[in-house]
Amino acid sequence: MNAIAEPGIHLDAPAYVRNQALLAWVAEMAGLTKPARVVWCDGSDAEYQRLCQQLVDAGTFRKLNPVKRPNSFLACSDPGDVARVEDRTFICSAKKEDAGPTNNWMDPAAMRDLLQHGHGDGAPALFDGCMRGRTMYVVPFSMGPLGSHISHIGIELSDSAYVAVNMKIMTRMGKEVYDVLGENGVFVPCVHTVGAPLQPGERDVSWPCNKTKYIVHYPQTREIWSYGSGYGGNALLGKKCFALRIASNMGRSAAQGAGDNPGWLAEHMLILGVTNPQGKKYHVAAAFPSACGKTNFSMLVPPAGFDGWKVTTVGDDIAWIKPHSDGRLYAINPEAGYFGVAPGTNLVTNPNCMASLHSDVIFTNVALTDDGDVWWEGLEKDTGSMPAHLIDWQGKDWTPALAAQTGTDGKLRPAAHPNARFTVAATNNPALDSAWDDPNGVPIDAFIFGGRRSTTVPLITEARNWVEGVYMAATMGSETTAAAAGQQGVVRRDPFAMLPFIGYNMSDYFQHWLGMGEKLTASGAKLPKIYTTNWFRKGADGKFVWPGYGENMRVLKWMIDRIEGTAKGQEHVFGISPAYEELNWSGLNFTPEQFKTVTSIDKAAWQAELKLHADLFQQLAYHLPKELQDTKAQIETRLAA
Ligand code: GTP
Ligand code: SPV
Ligand code: MN
Repeated sequence: MNAIAEPGIHLDAPAYVRNQALLAWVAEMAGLTKPARVVWCDGSDAEYQRLCQQLVDAGTFRKLNPVKRPNSFLACSDPGDVARVEDRTFICSAKKEDAGPTNNWMDPAAMRDLLQHGHGDGAPALFDGCMRGRTMYVVPFSMGPLGSHISHIGIELSDSAYVAVNMKIMTRMGKEVYDVLGENGVFVPCVHTVGAPLQPGERDVSWPCNKTKYIVHYPQTREIWSYGSGYGGNALLGKKCFALRIASNMGRSAAQGAGDNPGWLAEHMLILGVTNPQGKKYHVAAAFPSACGKTNFSMLVPPAGFDGWKVTTVGDDIAWIKPHSDGRLYAINPEAGYFGVAPGTNLVTNPNCMASLHSDVIFTNVALTDDGDVWWEGLEKDTGSMPAHLIDWQGKDWTPALAAQTGTDGKLRPAAHPNARFTVAATNNPALDSAWDDPNGVPIDAFIFGGRRSTTVPLITEARNWVEGVYMAATMGSETTAAAAGQQGVVRRDPFAMLPFIGYNMSDYFQHWLGMGEKLTASGAKLPKIYTTNWFRKGADGKFVWPGYGENMRVLKWMIDRIEGTAKGQEHVFGISPAYEELNWSGLNFTPEQFKTVTSIDKAAWQAELKLHADLFQQLAYHLPKELQDTKAQIETRLAA
């Protein structure tokens, strides 16, 4: 097979690529983006090593000390390209209402003019020639186990070798995908460019990108177009763009018009298994907003006082959830690796994660130590002291003295960017669940929704029923983090931790959840319980009161006791929470007074909170399910009593 895109660009497609639609699309895209060459990734280890070496030669990667961190690399990004760009992310549905008020929308035809066709005024399209002088990598990947009935295939065309090697870790990437695709299989076309064409003879920079950024989704045609960024969810298009924004559309449309088919869910959730000392296993899926603890919770190590308990990781960021013929909801993790937050990770907070990072890791925007290893804020807890000297994520010298001079708010200037990340294969995780790769997924016993709130929201609340749980999830607030560009620490509503990731109208999404509950109940199924958590309440001293991390096991155990019917709980305005005595405190000194600080319900604060729920509902008035308004009214009545 040897198609020609335009004079001069040879596709040189390997013979095993037999899908004509794919070949035609790659030819068309090569014609538009005009790369110097096209490379078809096969996903082999040899290819991974070759691309990593190429990135080292280009100055994008630095090879880490092979004794301390075998086969691992450090990349430092452009300082203007460090996180997801939510204000540059678009859902281009045919109708604006279908993107809803929480998404940026542009008319698909207008967006195509901007990206592909050019304007009438002669301005060139952004993608026209955007890969000049660069290599276009054709990256075939499967979200979910290869060939499984629940999996979906994507092909990412990217002019970034950094993206290609990250996709190798994060997805099932390789030429086997073409066998599954065959001659007529369907795939989600994903086009990615850093938006930095090279003129003949021009020297490349270590992290090419463009100040102009567009992360674009066409739900109707299930396409993804990403321009200008090389970072994380902006560029690794299998993750947020495909597995959440496009997949949420797929899951909902499966429910539309198809009688009692409830469809399925694509969620921003970790999935874990928890096994009690008697060997009984439960599965929990938990949605926390970006940088609010999913990776940590999914790798939890039970603390002292929990002998015989075991937590295993199925996934750390995304869950695809489908009803099974036994009536239960089953979840799979469509990813194959973790793109996790480095700062705050250490042997105390997350020993399983530290063990996962021993080798074969790509680090991005952490600091470099003098002996060629990596460092980030939080590791001083393991060593007992700050390092004497580092090269920070921006390539500058860092010492505690220099950092004190250049820090803000009396804090040291961070050596790692707060959104510094590691990319590592799931198979590196010592706590990996034996069913992590099972195409049928694992049956879910409970859903958790948890925000980052310094005040107001209690440690743990159980919803009395599905609708109340959907209400809790829909109205969840959370303080913004470094995972997205923009202001940090500002409370915003983040329904279901999906605000930046829902690919259609948020109110329709609430309805999809409610509809799923109704249909499953009607079929006689037992629905998972729904909980909300908040690990992040602060005391008068401004410090977290709840110890968090492994200690979250105490809360998890109470949820299981509730599932088993052995914990009574106490009813209040919002739902059910544990009495102090109902938590296992063995091995932890946490007083009833401290417990009160993290569980108390302040009426005035909640009246103010309900106003924020009202604001949200006003914003989402179009198609907002009546059940949610009714639930709000009930809470208000109880609160006023
Ligand atoms: P994304 O990858 O952005 O989706 O983030 P995530 O939800 O996986 O969050 P992650 O587990 O990486 O944690 C983000 C930050 O929160 C890290 O700095 C953690 O150390 C911190 N964190 C996680 N769990 C807890 C907890 O239980 N308590 C406290 N205080 N901090 C936590
Ligand atoms: C998140 O922000 O929720 C992430 C990181 O998991 S990214 O892949 O960049 O979206
Ligand atoms: Mn995430």
